[in-house]
Amino acid sequence: MAKPVGAGAHFGFREVPIEEKQTLVDEVFDSVARRYDLMNDLMSGGLHRAWKEALVTAVNPPLSERPFLLLDVAGGTGDIAFRVIEAGGEGTRATVCDINPEMLRVGRERAVERGYDAEVSFVEGNAESLPFPDKSYDAYTIAFGIRNVPRIEVALAEAFRVLRPGSRFLCLEFSTVDVPGLDALYDFYSFNVVPALGRAVANDAEAYRYLVESIRRFPKPHAFAEQIRAAGFKRVSFQMLTGGIVAVHSGWRL
Ligand SMILES: C[S@@+](CC[C@H](N)C(=O)[O-])C[C@H]1O[C@@H](n2cnc3c(N)ncnc32)[C@H](O)[C@@H]1O
Repeated sequence: MAKPVGAGAHFGFREVPIEEKQTLVDEVFDSVARRYDLMNDLMSGGLHRAWKEALVTAVNPPLSERPFLLLDVAGGTGDIAFRVIEAGGEGTRATVCDINPEMLRVGRERAVERGYDAEVSFVEGNAESLPFPDKSYDAYTIAFGIRNVPRIEVALAEAFRVLRPGSRFLCLEFSTVDVPGLDALYDFYSFNVVPALGRAVANDAEAYRYLVESIRRFPKPHAFAEQIRAAGFKRVSFQMLTGGIVAVHSGWRL
């Protein structure tokens, strides 16, 4: 159930009123939009590409002309949508939905450059109140997006609502590193190298500090799986990648 107005949320490590979190998140993505794709490569050493491919493999769009409609929420500059279109057949189409017009603007430009403007559409919208009818999509993806949403349980209920019975929810998100040695290295990298890169390349250390802190506040993989179940999804599972730096959670609307 939605938290009442006045309830708390976290913006990174800071406790903020829940209704303020989205404004703060929007400022972060306004600030990073232009350098977003370059920063992804720099910060993850290119690993985000492999993680996104793992998500696309799970989406498994049909290779045939069979119509297949993907909704990529918090889709930003279109990375997941483009990859699913590349992997799928003639009938595969994608809608990128994001709350930030600046991220969508960069995404639209990239779609035109890649010749995907007919297959991919860009819609401004909030994960908590999706502007789409019930049971209208064959798959829902959200990559590095759900931890930014103030009311995760509301976003999950919306995901369930727009999915057709028999279709799948898939979430790629930073998770919890539990490999001895890697955890200390990852901490150092996250709290020192990432903000420094943010300052040097995007001239915004604070935005990248928020991104790192929000990763640490996100629920552990089992707890997040439980939230997905609570939204009504069945056969919920998750797969940890790269020592737990990220996880892919999956659930079916049956
Ligand atoms: C880290 S980016 C991820 C972009 C893309 N999915 C990717 O993997 O490259 C997070 C995105 O979430 C979007 N976002 C934040 N809050 C949102 C909300 N409530 N509804 C929809 N999108 C949201 C931001 O605008 C931003 O584009």
